[in-house]
Amino acid sequence: MSNMKGKTVVITGATKGIGKAIAEKFASEGVNVAFTYNSNKEIGETIAKELSEKYSIKAKAYPLNILELDEFKPLFLEIDKDFDRIDFFVSNAMIYGRPVIGGYGKFMKLRPAKGLNNIYTATVGAFVRGSQEAARRMEKVGGGAIVTMSSTGNLIYIDNYAGHGTNKAAVEAMSRYAAVELGEMGIRVNAVSGGPIDTDALKAFTNYEEVKAETIKRSAVNRMGTPEDIAGSVYFLCTSEASWITGQTLIVDGGTTFR
Ligand SMILES: NC(=O)c1ccc[n+]([C@@H]2O[C@H](COP(=O)([O-])OP(=O)(O)OC[C@H]3O[C@@H](n4cnc5c(N)ncnc54)[C@H](OP(=O)(O)O)[C@@H]3O)[C@@H](O)[C@H]2O)c1
Repeated sequence: MSNMKGKTVVITGATKGIGKAIAEKFASEGVNVAFTYNSNKEIGETIAKELSEKYSIKAKAYPLNILELDEFKPLFLEIDKDFDRIDFFVSNAMIYGRPVIGGYGKFMKLRPAKGLNNIYTATVGAFVRGSQEAARRMEKVGGGAIVTMSSTGNLIYIDNYAGHGTNKAAVEAMSRYAAVELGEMGIRVNAVSGGPIDTDALKAFTNYEEVKAETIKRSAVNRMGTPEDIAGSVYFLCTSEASWITGQTLIVDGGTTFR
């Protein structure tokens, strides 16, 4: 899509999994990529180098901890120094491991003041702060598009997923509010709700093998989802082909949710 060339996307959490596939998709279409890492600095820098060389675009990795919402302002100020415009923002990064203790688990084990709050910050808080910073820059170039990652775990029951599922429902609702209010700035806002995708995040599920087998069984196309399956949809929502789509959630689940 030629009108994407020379534009810039900002993606949170693109060192692996879905974020990395999104970065590669935009880069392959000639879009410059500013993305963040948290623990994997070296991997982030290597990905930036590879994308720039392979697709002749500008790519750079920046540190960001989505649990520290004050980091969004300085992050975008750094990006301003390297990129002359921001057209798209993808809120993708998600916490795992220790910070989700008390948030990932059975309902009776949820701890609102700990893991559950962290999941809210990482999901809704990070979407809000990232989108606010991005929108100010998009307005200057006449508009843009924002996509947040969601999950079908807010529509169907997944073991231990109450904390994540409810916060994905919340971020979808928040994206609809943002869509209404940012529309006058020429900015569209949508969510992509993924079914189970084979990434490290899924491998961290205590019942990973079971989820994987069940996903393949349920899928109308008899396979797991891949990061690339999601990346194509995120990219589409940012193109002019999607110019009248805003305030929506696109479900990308291989047909697993209905079954
Ligand atoms: N996998 C699935 O089945 C699935 C399904 C539907 C939706 N989703 C959603 O898709 C998104 C990406 O998921 P994924 O499976 O690709 O995850 P992943 O493979 O675990 O990757 C997570 C990314 O987030 C970054 N990250 C982790 N902790 C962070 C923190 N505190 N601050 C900032 N960045 C942090 C990681 O950076 P470092 O490597 O540098 O630490 C990494 O780039 C998430 O929003 C997830 O909920 C996933």
